[in-house]
This record gives sequence, structure tokens and C-alpha cells, in this order.
Amino acid sequence: KAPKAVATHTGAGGETHQTAGGDTPVMTTQQGLAVSDDQNTLRAGARGPALMEDFHFREKIFHFDHERIPERVVHARGYGAHGYFELTDSLADVCKADIFNRVGERTPAFVRFSTVAGNKGSADVVRDVRGFAVKLYTSEGNWDLVGNNIPVFFIQDAIKFPDFVHAAKQEPDRDFPQAQTAHDNFWDFVSLSPEATHMVCWAMSDRAIPRSFRFMEGFGVHTFRLIDAEGQSTYVKFHWKPKLGLQSVVWNEALKINGADPDFHRRDLWQAIKSGNFPEWELGVQLFDDDFADSFDFDILDPTKLIPEELVPVRRVGRLVLDRMPDNFFAETEQVAFCTQNIIPGIDFTNDPLLQGRNFSYLDTQTKRLGGPNFTHIPINAPKCPFANFQQDGHMAMHNPKGRANYEPNSWSQPAGGPRETPAGYTSFPEEESGPKLRQRSETFADHYSQARQFYISQTPVEQTHMRDAFVFELSKVETPAIRARMVSYLLHVDQALAEGVASGLGLSPLPEPARAARPVVEGLEP
Ligand code: HEM
Repeated sequence: KAPKAVATHTGAGGETHQTAGGDTPVMTTQQGLAVSDDQNTLRAGARGPALMEDFHFREKIFHFDHERIPERVVHARGYGAHGYFELTDSLADVCKADIFNRVGERTPAFVRFSTVAGNKGSADVVRDVRGFAVKLYTSEGNWDLVGNNIPVFFIQDAIKFPDFVHAAKQEPDRDFPQAQTAHDNFWDFVSLSPEATHMVCWAMSDRAIPRSFRFMEGFGVHTFRLIDAEGQSTYVKFHWKPKLGLQSVVWNEALKINGADPDFHRRDLWQAIKSGNFPEWELGVQLFDDDFADSFDFDILDPTKLIPEELVPVRRVGRLVLDRMPDNFFAETEQVAFCTQNIIPGIDFTNDPLLQGRNFSYLDTQTKRLGGPNFTHIPINAPKCPFANFQQDGHMAMHNPKGRANYEPNSWSQPAGGPRETPAGYTSFPEEESGPKLRQRSETFADHYSQARQFYISQTPVEQTHMRDAFVFELSKVETPAIRARMVSYLLHVDQALAEGVASGLGLSPLPEPARAARPVVEGLEP
């Protein structure tokens, strides 16, 4: 469609001025003052110095100077879309959350996909984990399922997260590499962290170079709880299953795509949604109880472990459809704030030490990233259900308590008295806790290799070759021989042929001894 002509005139210096009129609105300052000339600063004489008095110039430049906000400390590069969640199978038998009770009902959603290590301007098709963060605007408040496209994580305890992220991002003296795992610091850290072995195998698999966001799975990773109307708890792992299936590119393709189009994944999502080709995922849940948890070979609180789908099948209960791109990338995708502690009645945490640390980290970092405690007033973050409390003031406060009362209990009748508590509000599952206060990891977290082995042998021969080649490629970039050898000493517990293949690709001879394993590898885990 050809743009409509706008009235123009030429200024004294030959510059083009476009003027308002008809359906072309008048440009104003932030104070609403109509602007007569947006091309020239106010000067003393046509060739004289600019005047301090030029408030329009100063306002325009001041605002421009402040356009950037800090990028996310991790997951800086991302792309989001709006959509909805529709329940297809009631979960009312195990969960009282309103969103899971009426089949066919739709809940608005916003989803942001991301890479983890790269900066905001880095390329899309890098070898990395992908974030899969979902905000569900439920009738009982916002529920954020802040997941990844890989069902496990690198570390078991949130206190290690700053070290892990420092090691994964650019090395501090040289500020490279931006987005690849191929560097000494990353491999140094993971080769000193046997707990990372399982996740590193996933990161070296084809899962870490997805064809597009539309072909990725998503996982809540941690074990959460569902709570029913009687207050009974059922453990749950959340899954998103893509309707298009799972697809990856191969490494050579990834390199070429990144060179030709670093925006490949975001362009794919934009074009799919704009052309009415709406991507869709099924929500799946794995449900289990304490008896299963006690009989399981691993600790259900350990985020480096998954629950095999052969042991606990995934029950599909709903679908997530993305059907609308944001009107404005910054306002929505950049300013959206997902947080693991945003939950609703019917859902609760477990004592997974990674989850508990995340519950602190997100709100804390977002308070800085989004400039103070009122980022929930930004429309993309505000609930779509009624909300009211006595929080007030702070930077950018858009709504303060109305009327006389800004505290409770108070003696004032409505409407002056404001909101009050309700027994139907959120309550935590009353899990019993006891034991000494310790800084010590549970020994039930000590088997670091069995599930890595299970993952490796569940891959097809072609996928196994891709994994081996990825280890060789990435580790060949590592300059320190001891780090390479340590990684191979872990891989010897995962699979002998894999370890030998990687060692031979690296020219590493003789083979190092297998790393000391705190727990023997559990055999008989073949799928
Ligand atoms: C951001 C997932 C572990 C701290 C994110 C995002 C995702 C994510 C998807 C991007 C959210 C967005 O799109 O805006 C995960 C998963 C984890 C994990 C699945 C492990 C299972 C952790 C841990 C910490 C942490 C252990 C800290 C203790 C952060 C921070 C951000 C972030 C600070 C940036 C948030 C922001 O600025 O808005 N994470 N994360 N994450 N994560 Fe995690």
C-alpha cells in the first residue's frame, strides 16, 4: 500500500519539513506543546551558537540518551508473542487452579523464547539452551512457567548460578566469545562440576540448535506441586510438546544461517504468525506421588534429573497457541518480567534448591532492569484479573491506593477502607520440615552420570555422531589440555565409545582415567 502524501515545505537550508493536517497528527513535546520545527535547534543568529533555552532540543536528546535499559543478565536475546492457553482435559482431580478446571476455556498468554548466553545483539542459531518462558494471565493472578527447551539444568544449587553464568558468558579480559560454548572458561567450569555432565550432553546434542522456536519442546524443569480442592499435593513436571514436532538444524547449517541471517529464529516466528500459521504446543504433565518419589533411583528435587516418560507417561491437558505479535518489541518483549515465584492457588513449589534460589533472583534483577519496584504496572506485566493492595509510591508509580486508607487493618468503611484478605487466598502446602541447619548437599543428589548415559543411549546413531562431533568441535577450541582430559574422564562414565571418539577427535592419547564417581553408575537404564 503506497503511503499517503504528507504536506511538505522546504526550509531555508534546503531541509524537508513535513507538516500536520488532515489525518496526520500534530507532533508535540512530552508536555503536549505543538512543535513548529523539529529540524533546527534554536540558535542566536542563523550561524550562531545553540541556545540553552531550547527546551524542545534538550527534551528530545535527553530522552534519546536514556533509551537503553540494562539487558537481561542471562537470556538477553529473546523474542515473544501473544496467544492463549486452552484446557482440553480437566485436571480438577488433582489441581484446584481455575485455569485447569473448565475444558474449552481460554486464558491469555505471553511467551518469550530466548538464548541463554548471548548478548541482546547476538545471533539466533547458536549452540545454546533456549528459554521457554510462559506468562499465563489467569483469573486468579499471573502464573509464570519459566522454563527451557531442555528438561534438566547444569547445576543443582542456585548459589552456583553466578559462577556458572560468568563462566558461560564472555571471558572478562577479552569479552569473547559472545554466544558459543567454545571456550576455556565454560569447559573449565563444567569439567570441575560433575553435576553438569547430564545437561552438557543435552547441550552437545541437536536439541541445542533448534530449527526454529516452533519446533522446540519446553520444560518447567523442576518438580512442582499441584494442590487439589482438599489440599492434597501431587508432584508434577510440566512439558510443552510442539505440534510441528521436534526439529533441529545440523551444525554446518547453523554456521551458514548465522552468517546469512542472525535473526533467523525471530524472523521465522514473525512470518509464521503474521501469515496466520499459528504455532501450537500441547501442555503435558507427569504426575507422581511420594511413593513413586521414594522408589525413584534419583531425587525428584534434583534439577539435573528428569523423570523418564517410560516410568511416568505425559498426560496432555491443554494447548498453547501463539497468534499475535506484540505491537512494540520494547514495550512488551523487552519489558516483560517472568518470575518463578508468580504462582496461583493449586500450584506450589518444592524444595528444589535451584528453584528456591530462582524465586529470589528474578524479582531482584527485574527491580534493577526495569527501574524500580513498579514494573508490574507496565501493561505486559499487569494481571488481567482485578488486583488491589496498599503498596504505593516508588519510581514510575502508575496507580496508588485510592481514598483515605493506605494500610490495614483500618476502621474505614468502603470504598475508603480498601481491600481486605480472604480465606480463599493463596496458602502454601504445609509440608513438614525438620533437621539441622546445614550447608551440605543431600547425598541423594550424588549420581551425576546415570541419566547422562541414559540420554546418550536413547539417541539414534546419527544423533550420537552429532553429539560426538559437537564435543570434539567445542573442546578443540579449548586451549588448556587438562580441561579436555577432565571432560573425557566424565564421558568415560557416560559411554565408552563416546569418550573414545571424543578423545581420538582431540588427539588425546592415552585415554585419561574415568573421573572419581561419588555414586556408581546405575546400569539397566536402557529405554
Ligand atoms: C532469565 C530459565 C535458572 C536467574 C531466565 C529466562 C528463562 C530462564 C526462560 C528468560 C526469561 C525471559 O524471557 O524474560 C531458567 C531455567 C533455569 C534457570 C529453566 C533452571 C532450571 C536460573 C537460576 C537463576 C536464574 C538458578 C539464579 C539463581 C535468572 C535471571 C534472569 C533469568 C536473573 C533474567 C531475568 C530478567 O532480567 O528478567 N531464566 N533459569 N535462572 N534467569 Fe533463569
